[in-house]
Amino acid sequence: MKVHHAEIVISAVKPEQYPEDGYPEFALAGRSNVGKSSFINRMINRKSLARTSSKPGKTQTLNFYKIEDQLFFVDVPGYGYAKVSKSERAAWGRMIEQYITGRETLRAVLLIIDLRHDPTADDKMMYDFLKHYNIPCVVIATKADKIAKGKWERHKSNVKKQLDMVKGDPIIVFSSEKSLGVEQAWQEIEKRM
Ligand code: GTP
Ligand code: MG
Repeated sequence: MKVHHAEIVISAVKPEQYPEDGYPEFALAGRSNVGKSSFINRMINRKSLARTSSKPGKTQTLNFYKIEDQLFFVDVPGYGYAKVSKSERAAWGRMIEQYITGRETLRAVLLIIDLRHDPTADDKMMYDFLKHYNIPCVVIATKADKIAKGKWERHKSNVKKQLDMVKGDPIIVFSSEKSLGVEQAWQEIEKRM
C-alpha cells in the first residue's frame, strides 16, 4: 500500500475511547525499545508520526493511527522494561488484555521481535497469549540491518522454532532503518484486511 495520508486519532487507555470507524485494525506488540513505533513510521513513510526514542518506555497509551481511511495501526506500550513498578505493570496487563481480547476489529497482531537475538521469555508469553485467544499473528523480525545478511535465514528459523510458531503465521525479516521487508509486511496486512 502506498500511504499518502496517516494521522493519529486518539491515545486511548480504555475501550470507551477506542475509535468507532470500524476499520480493520493491526496492533503492534513487542518488548520496549524493539522498534514498534519505528515500524509504523517506516510502513507509512513518515519520519516521526509515531514518537520513537532510544530510551525504552516511550509509548504509554494505545495510539490509534488511521491510515488512508482504510485501516488502523495501533501502537502499544512495550513490555519487559525493568524500571516499571508492579502496579504499572499490572495496569499495562489489564489495558492490553482488554484490548486484545475484546476488540472486534482487530485483524492481527504484528509481533515485533529483534532478529539478532533469541526471543525473550516475554516474547514467548505474548505469542502464547495471542494463540490462546486465536489472534492471527505476523512476526516482524526487525533491526536486520544490524546483522550480516548471511545470518538472516538462520536467525529467522531460530525465532520461528523458539516461538513455536503455528502454520499460517508468517515471519518477515525487517529493518526500519534500511527499509527492508516493507512490501512483504504490507502484503500480509492487506491479506488480512
Ligand atoms: P517503546 O515505545 O519504548 O516500547 O519502544 P518502541 O518499540 O516503539 O521502539 P522505537 O520505535 O521507539 O525504537 C527504539 C530504538 O530502536 C530507536 O532508537 C530506533 O531508532 C531504533 N530502531 C528501531 N528500528 C530499528 C531498525 O530497524 N534498525 C536500527 N538499526 N534501529 C532501529
Ligand atoms: Mg513506541
